[in-house]
Amino acid sequence: MKMMFALICFAAISGTASADVVAAPNPATYTWINANIIQPKCIGCHKKLFKTYDSLVGTVKAGRPQDSNLYKMTKSGMMPENGEALTDAELNAIQSWIADGAKNN
Ligand code: HEC
Repeated sequence: MKMMFALICFAAISGTASADVVAAPNPATYTWINANIIQPKCIGCHKKLFKTYDSLVGTVKAGRPQDSNLYKMTKSGMMPENGEALTDAELNAIQSWIADGAKNN
């Protein structure tokens, strides 16, 4: 019975999460950044560079957003190339994720 209850709760939570655009947690997580920034705005050109957590984390220095290519290139507006610059909320998410250690979370 306990198990059944847990399953129903899980279904309810995941159902809500996929239906709406979810605000970034603070600090942001890899999962949020991947789903909301990398997949929709970067993966078209960066299939290999951003394919996995390990490849993405290769473009950052954990704990130091200002020294991380991922943050510098987006903050400066150089990336996404030929696309609209990221919003402040998206930049803040990248910044907070790197500052928090660029975890695989
Ligand atoms: C239209 C194609 C295109 C899109 C979309 C794009 N990029 Fe790039 N990106 C490039 C190209 C080409 C280069 C390599 C040339 C250079 O370094 O200037 C590059 C280089 C980079 C680099 C430096 C590579 C390294 O090894 O550190 C980073 C970081 C980067 N992009 C991040 C992003 C992010 C984040 C996004 C999404 C917000 C994005 N790019 C979207 C084309 C693109």
